[in-house]
Amino acid sequence: MYQDVRGLEMTAASEDAVRAFDHVIDGYVGYRTDIPQRMEALFAADPDCPLAHCLRGAFAMLSFKAAALPIAREACDTALRLTLAAEPREQDHAAALEAWVGGNPDRATAIWQQILDEHPHDLLAFRLAHFVNFWLGRPEVMLTSVLRAESHWSDSLPGWGALLGCRAFALEECGHYTQAEYAGREAIRFDPNDLWAAHAVAHVMEMQGRRSEGIAWVEGLEGNWAHGNNLRHHLAWHAAMYHFERGDDARVLALYDGGFRDLSSPLTQASPDLYIDVQNAASMLFRLARQGVDVGGRWEELANLAETRIGDCLSGFTLPHWMMALAATGRDAAAERMLAAMRDFAAGEESLVGQLTAQLALPVTEAVLAHFRGRHAEAVRLMRPVLGEMYRLGGSHAQQDVLEQLFLDAALKADLTTDARLLMERVAGRNPVPPARRRGYAMGAGLLH
Ligand SMILES: [Fe+2]
Repeated sequence: MYQDVRGLEMTAASEDAVRAFDHVIDGYVGYRTDIPQRMEALFAADPDCPLAHCLRGAFAMLSFKAAALPIAREACDTALRLTLAAEPREQDHAAALEAWVGGNPDRATAIWQQILDEHPHDLLAFRLAHFVNFWLGRPEVMLTSVLRAESHWSDSLPGWGALLGCRAFALEECGHYTQAEYAGREAIRFDPNDLWAAHAVAHVMEMQGRRSEGIAWVEGLEGNWAHGNNLRHHLAWHAAMYHFERGDDARVLALYDGGFRDLSSPLTQASPDLYIDVQNAASMLFRLARQGVDVGGRWEELANLAETRIGDCLSGFTLPHWMMALAATGRDAAAERMLAAMRDFAAGEESLVGQLTAQLALPVTEAVLAHFRGRHAEAVRLMRPVLGEMYRLGGSHAQQDVLEQLFLDAALKADLTTDARLLMERVAGRNPVPPARRRGYAMGAGLLH
């Protein structure tokens, strides 16, 4: 029996295969672009390594894309077969993947946490639980998971920096900004290339309205991200968010075209419809357009992609963003097809993903279409019952904000003052920055007393 770099026993054909596995995990927690090459090396060293097949399935699932499901299912079946005679921890990894592939990411996170309780150095279980809990809107579970694991860690264990970065982000999403920034900066001192830690501190600055510092933070670190994956685009989006709040729309559009929607970049071309890229782009265009900024033909490219993803409901939080693109370009028939496909998916799917689609993604996505079509009162009526629940679609507070802006916009345009005030009170109560200092809410500040 071999041991990985953190001393966990694993089934593998050779020491080389285990080192190749460690290299993949390093790449995964480091948001590196060369994961496919690292996986190739792992399978070359051992085509029957059970955890390698779990990884293959996990990477397919991490795209949150229906087209990747067959790959994930096949990897899962292989992992289940190969782990029959493997370690219980490896069997649990295969079981977690099976739950995830089956549309029950909540069950998968529970299994990863179970693994962690017994093996707190299992960085794969830790990072997958962190990420999937994030996309289930569970920051407090993310934080508990970090705190439970880290008492068994020290900075001499490989992967410590990744744990710190996750601590920073979980603290930030739980509203503990001072501690989050401390942990994030410590992680960056540990590893200046750490994209997730850089991202956590960027969120602190976003939430605290420290826009100039945020711009300097991203610009000061971006030179380290040459080998980073699409999270780089998301950090460019964060930079654009600071510029947007400072009213520098030309800079926002320049970052849109050259930073997070740079179609000449091999990175973007590799995954032009990755959920995070679509969220970055659509949410920024919505914010700009709401302020009367001419965004040109930028919606068209997103709408073309949206049409290809009709019926794919694996990323609930992305669905309203796809709808923004279809609605903004007047593609009513496609928009109706998308809603019908969502209803079909929800009706035929008893899993958690199906439930989230039916209960949350559907009304919010319907509200987006109603809003763009000028049916503002209808948009408010559709969104009002789920305002307090839509965090379960996942995404950060900074990302969920676009949906709250949409609700406010609809309520103001429909003269539904009670609803507009309700939204303003929610925003004023939860966000450290006063609404008057936030571009998307300043127009409603008069509703507050
Ligand atoms: Fe973010």
